[in-house]
Amino acid sequence: MATEKFKEASPYTKPRPRPPREDYIYKHFLYFFEFSLTRAKKNTKTIYHSNATITFALFGVGRAGTIHLTNILHNSRCKLLYVVDDIEANWSNIKKRFRLENVSFLKSKQSEAVFIDHNVQAVIVASPTYTHQEIVTKALAAKKAVFCEKPVAENREDTEKCYEVARLCGKPLFTAFNRRFDPSYSALRERARNGEIGHVHTMNIISRDSPMPTIDYLRISGGIFHDCMVHDIDMMTWILGEYPTAVAVQATANVPEIKAIDDVDTVVATLKFPSGTLGMINLSRNACYGYDMRLEAFGPKGTVRVANEQPNHVETMYGYDGPTTAPIYYSFASRFKSAYIREMNHFLDVVLGKCEMMVQSKETLAVSKIAAACEKSSRTGQMVELCWAAGELPEENLM
Ligand SMILES: NC(=O)c1ccc[n+]([C@@H]2O[C@H](COP(=O)([O-])OP(=O)(O)OC[C@H]3O[C@@H](n4cnc5c(N)ncnc54)[C@H](O)[C@@H]3O)[C@@H](O)[C@H]2O)c1
Repeated sequence: MATEKFKEASPYTKPRPRPPREDYIYKHFLYFFEFSLTRAKKNTKTIYHSNATITFALFGVGRAGTIHLTNILHNSRCKLLYVVDDIEANWSNIKKRFRLENVSFLKSKQSEAVFIDHNVQAVIVASPTYTHQEIVTKALAAKKAVFCEKPVAENREDTEKCYEVARLCGKPLFTAFNRRFDPSYSALRERARNGEIGHVHTMNIISRDSPMPTIDYLRISGGIFHDCMVHDIDMMTWILGEYPTAVAVQATANVPEIKAIDDVDTVVATLKFPSGTLGMINLSRNACYGYDMRLEAFGPKGTVRVANEQPNHVETMYGYDGPTTAPIYYSFASRFKSAYIREMNHFLDVVLGKCEMMVQSKETLAVSKIAAACEKSSRTGQMVELCWAAGELPEENLM
């Protein structure tokens, strides 16, 4: 009876609590639920602003392409008209699996059909990196909006050329830095930028891929700095709102097959920022225990961090071996599932003119420049200084 005195009035007599802002999945549900009610509220505040349909062509149905294919087919605002991929032997399985009887399948040498088709409004580029520049520029020139997997091109100069075409054609070119759309990373950014930990003294990123990509993929990937580390550089600069003035990098190839293709599989990079913040990126191509993605920001008022996520949260205790939980997610496809869905919705809103693009050209170009500096530092063993010209850095991200 000791707690009886704390009994409260019925919850029905009190205002119903609102969903917390962190529960983005419930908000997504609520949008569709409220929309379907006859008493639907006008002007519901949501990122899913419009019901207009955007028509797509998809280039490349490999690892990344399969994620985007699944997402657009599940999105009532998308309609797929073309798939372009050179492995014709896979077409019939893809058609059957995804019920794409009405979608045209083409090889890359036939892709002109996509560019001249006025019914295609947007192109997703998920083919190997070395093919991006040509597809991106042709699509933009044909007045299509472009969603391009990172990196947009193999180096900064070619990336700049793509953005110049986008500017001249007046069409959006979106670089798919999917981690920005992950709810945990974006929540951490908000907390850091609200000053919750004060001036960030250090930021540590652990970024370890799983499963290890095939050698065939790595051979044409553009190397670990432009293929992998661009994600981490983007995350660090996007959260901090500043760009390094010096980088010092050590890298090594522990895997003989990776050494044989003149690439590395393990990188430790330190980045010095103008405000005094020091960044560290600890990168590996191969974590045997799953896709290990962690980020910690430390300041005078405390620490915020994004931990690994697991498919479920069951804890078991059998015998005296201590508690065990589920493994962390195996791969980017599972860890960033919601981020991929959210980035596609963002792209749709941009195409429909409902919001500003979250990934600006100057940000992508800066990331490419930093990745090249990191590669140079690892090859020369020297610290590399970075100079930024007036107007080179993205004003929007510096605030
Ligand atoms: N954001 C992410 O999380 C993420 C993850 C993986 C890959 N990527 C990026 O996505 C791109 C593709 O990587 P992947 O791992 O899916 O590669 P992949 O090798 O699994 O798939 C590439 C596909 O593109 C097809 N292809 C080749 N040349 C083509 C062309 N000219 N036109 C159309 N299709 C063509 C291939 O047949 C293959 O099916 C790369 O740029 C990579 O950096 C991004």
